[in-house]
Amino acid sequence: KGTYVENMKMITHGSGNLMLFAGDQKVEHLNDDFFGKDIATDDASPEHLFRIAKEGRIGVFATQLGLIAKYGKDYREIPYLVKLNSKTHLVKTDQKDPLSPQLYSIDQIVRFRDQTGLAITGVGYTIYLGSEYEGEMIREAAQIIYEAHQHGLIVVLWIYPRGKAVKDEKDPHLIAGAAGVASALGADFVKVNAPKKDGSSSAELMKEAVAAAGKTKLVCAGGSSVSGEDFLKQLYDQIHTGGASGNATGRNIHQKTLDEAVRMCNAVSAITIDNAEIAAALKI
Ligand code: FBP
Repeated sequence: KGTYVENMKMITHGSGNLMLFAGDQKVEHLNDDFFGKDIATDDASPEHLFRIAKEGRIGVFATQLGLIAKYGKDYREIPYLVKLNSKTHLVKTDQKDPLSPQLYSIDQIVRFRDQTGLAITGVGYTIYLGSEYEGEMIREAAQIIYEAHQHGLIVVLWIYPRGKAVKDEKDPHLIAGAAGVASALGADFVKVNAPKKDGSSSAELMKEAVAAAGKTKLVCAGGSSVSGEDFLKQLYDQIHTGGASGNATGRNIHQKTLDEAVRMCNAVSAITIDNAEIAAALKI
């Protein structure tokens, strides 16, 4: 039942930078991220995510409340961030604009926290900016932030421009727009996709978004799995060139065996939290 300052200190390890381990894909991507691609059957279990979050060094583990309720009692040492909305990827944008309504109220999350004594340090919510339903999601996000802060909870907004009105989801200027929306709503962190221009991403392209976010700290989503070295280099540049305040990584961590995933967590944390150089992180 931490205060805002205590929760912030816990999830950033006092560094101000966030290492968010994203584990909401069971709904967002159904079983696609957990099957095939040399993933062992055992590692397709949701428990794989909890084992990684327990054994690896992370800031906070973001996932749905139901999973926390099922597994949390065996993983009490993990700091959790409850993802308050989630939708699958079955309905495509050209069929219908995305809407991902809130699943639980802040009062319910606070009650769950107080009843279980688990370290529920914050909440997360996705807004699909540009969707014809963006008004609904912006309103829910605003209410969540207002209420969450009253209870000391940290708020991370995932803001992804998406829908028929959006030509280029990763356009740097649009990503900066998303960062500004998060700032106007008072989010503590905003998680965006890394901006891309002419199909390629560079940390330089993030600067407009970091400036637009102001006191709201910006972190980039991890994306599909790449080599460990490429991922760590990209993260280092996002922080040191782009001005990001950490990372939000899912597949690049959990699409690995437990040992490898834990090493990756620790390497990512070394860069995000300890300000380590790439060479040092690669040795972990
Ligand atoms: P990854 O690091 O696996 O990309 O996770 C980041 C994330 O934002 C998840 O939290 C979320 O489930 C997913 O990406 C959303 O991805 P999409 O762009 O396919 O909606």
